[in-house]
Amino acid sequence: MKARIFRASRRDLLKGTAALSLAGAFPLPAIAQGAPLKVGFMLPYTGTFAKLGKFIDDGFRLAVEQKGGKLGGRAVEYVQVDDESEPAKATDNMNRLVGRDKVDVVVGTVHSGVAMAMAKVAKDNNSFLVVPNAGANDVTRTMCAPHIWRTSFTNWQPCFPMGKVMYDAGHRNIMTITWRYAAGLEDVEAVKESFTKLGGKIVEELYLPFPQVEFQALLTQIAQKKPDAVFAFFAGGGAVKFVKDYAAAGLKTSIPLYGPGFLTDGTLPAQGPDAESIKTTLHYADALDNPANKAFLAGFKQKTGQDGDVYAVQGFDAGQLLEIGLSAVQGDIAARDKMFAAMQAAKINSPRGPISFSKAHNVVQNIYLREAKGGLNRYVSVAHEALADPALGCRAAA
Ligand code: PHB
Repeated sequence: MKARIFRASRRDLLKGTAALSLAGAFPLPAIAQGAPLKVGFMLPYTGTFAKLGKFIDDGFRLAVEQKGGKLGGRAVEYVQVDDESEPAKATDNMNRLVGRDKVDVVVGTVHSGVAMAMAKVAKDNNSFLVVPNAGANDVTRTMCAPHIWRTSFTNWQPCFPMGKVMYDAGHRNIMTITWRYAAGLEDVEAVKESFTKLGGKIVEELYLPFPQVEFQALLTQIAQKKPDAVFAFFAGGGAVKFVKDYAAAGLKTSIPLYGPGFLTDGTLPAQGPDAESIKTTLHYADALDNPANKAFLAGFKQKTGQDGDVYAVQGFDAGQLLEIGLSAVQGDIAARDKMFAAMQAAKINSPRGPISFSKAHNVVQNIYLREAKGGLNRYVSVAHEALADPALGCRAAA
């Protein structure tokens, strides 16, 4: 027998619930009690990506502070989990935030492998997830969902334009080097796609396990093979050590180094002259000349005493996107259809330039060619304007 469907308006339900609650029979929903919105940060606060996690956290809080400590008019409360960039712990960490801490939205994470596990949990229990860094392509491809959003990039996005940049610089035979995990593999795949289509060749792909930084043996292989150039993806502490080791091995002057901008973003003070003149592609550049970037960098400096970077921008934009969604529903995060529709229509003047969101809920954005000069990742040109991920396998985007 078919169950009878009872439909009541939200207001009826709230009224009904309030009456019951006054009678002491039923608790009021959080929003009706004026309860704070619970944001769960699942980020790396230790390990090679620790600074990235902290900057995302700070960037998000900055956006909220600029709204008087509120999102959609509701005070915000934070719960933090250090995910340690450890995929094996990701499912438990995510379940704890959603199940035990009962957060309204999870904001995380940096590492693609951890993000894939988070997206799986989010899909299984219909929890609201905003990814502020991890580029795992499938999060907004095969796993795309109404309640899964990303304010950063797919791994494909910053790397695909690099194939043409390297080819146009005259390189024909290149080597790649990265960590063997989703982000490294997808980055190499993306540069390979554009570089080989133009007629270039990847002569060898070198890998080491994440988050190892024993580069010496691999650098020796590069020196022996003498490719025209090298494409590398590392980030955080690993990127600092790689760029320094590359220079120390004497390769900097003989074999030009390229990569997605993570290789030099937020890391230049620690890399010093060893990073000078490295060209990278990314959806951000330090001194981008737009009012949103100037205001963001000033605000971030004032809040943290530090210079903002791409990770801080992605955290800031996660806060901005949630503010757009939540203000459309006056903070009622349960009114999902209306909230997600407002997020889908969002056009944000991000510090990185204008952004919008694809049907797969990934960012549509400019990818810039940058060059490290005097401690800044300086804008060189637009490598690809308003680049959208192909979102293969996402039905909503088909
Ligand atoms: C990733 O694992 O997706 C990742 C990590 C650090 C980055 C970029 C991507 O800087």
